[in-house]
Amino acid sequence: MPAFGQEPAAPALPYTQAVKEATDHLYPRVAGAIPEAEWKLHAPYIAAINELKKKRGAVILAHNYMTPEIFRCVGDFAGDSLQLAKEAAKTDAKVIVQAGVHFMAETSKILCPDKTVLIPDLRAGCSLAASITAADVRLLKQKYPGVPVVTYVNTSAAVKAESDICCTSSNAVEVVEHICAERGSDAVIFLPDQYLARNVAAMTDIRVITWAGACEVHERFTAEDIREIREAHPGVVVLAHPECPPDVLAEADFAGSTSGMSDYVKENQPKNVVLITECSMSDNVALENPDVTFVRPCNLCPHMKRITLQGILRSLETMTHEVTVDPEVAARARRAIERMIALPLKRRSMYRHQHAPEVSAIEARV
Ligand code: 13P
Ligand code: SF4
Repeated sequence: MPAFGQEPAAPALPYTQAVKEATDHLYPRVAGAIPEAEWKLHAPYIAAINELKKKRGAVILAHNYMTPEIFRCVGDFAGDSLQLAKEAAKTDAKVIVQAGVHFMAETSKILCPDKTVLIPDLRAGCSLAASITAADVRLLKQKYPGVPVVTYVNTSAAVKAESDICCTSSNAVEVVEHICAERGSDAVIFLPDQYLARNVAAMTDIRVITWAGACEVHERFTAEDIREIREAHPGVVVLAHPECPPDVLAEADFAGSTSGMSDYVKENQPKNVVLITECSMSDNVALENPDVTFVRPCNLCPHMKRITLQGILRSLETMTHEVTVDPEVAARARRAIERMIALPLKRRSMYRHQHAPEVSAIEARV
């Protein structure tokens, strides 16, 4: 679990001629989102990070929720949780800087035990990962013996180590069906997101037992929000993340992982679109789709927003904060993650509800 503490403020770096020369070619990537005056504040850090990255033999894995100056100007690989885990597994860089939250950095470390994995701010947690412990999972396994355990990657290494297989929002339905077919089980323990669990349950006949966890960003959206957006913006296409409550998904035109939403916009080029998810997603997707108009009600993830250019530079300069995972825990967690990565999935999970989004139990710590 991340330790909590204040990051020291770094002195601002100046915008010099050398910085200008090193970064001018990058500005067009973000010009649609960042005014020139603001760019001059970011550019010195971008230049310094890109220089130091080479010296350290580092790659930066950037989640779709990173702000555009990180996502498009220093990130070497960008994507959703599954894509970032796959990139971590195959990179030959010596150092990985995770521009994302702590569970993502742990996943990278588990997959690359010999590499140095850094997270720029240890406070970048996740309400889902914080909702459940390995001891909770052990109690659930006692209560439901023989029922396979699927854990969302938004969990600690210790929780992953107790599970049979991991999933992300882009493969959750397929992972549940796969593990239940393999085990001959008509039930699954799906942890810890009760909303993702309900959205998966609506896509399968498998009995789903879940946990009372929720994403603090997505659980705040309501079906009423969507109806109001549709009324204010007739014809708007609504895309939602499956961590949203099921009644929100019922009002949406499409639901999928962060990259699922991004690809939907790329492929369908809707005239007007709204992404029911974290705020930076719309900025990043809008930059790649200049002909699409974005309606932008969004909720900020306070954890993702801990990651800044200043923090990434400090991380590379001081080689902190190094993420470590107990080797025995990592070995068990790796099995669950690698099983997920090895699944030959032909498409991303879709959440077009086929029946009521009912789970058979929502467990909680007693
Ligand atoms: P994705 O796997 O869709 O990128 O989601 C990760 C996440 O934390 C969403 O809140
Ligand atoms: Fe966790 Fe939600 Fe933030 Fe994603 S958006 S990192 S699930 S709190």
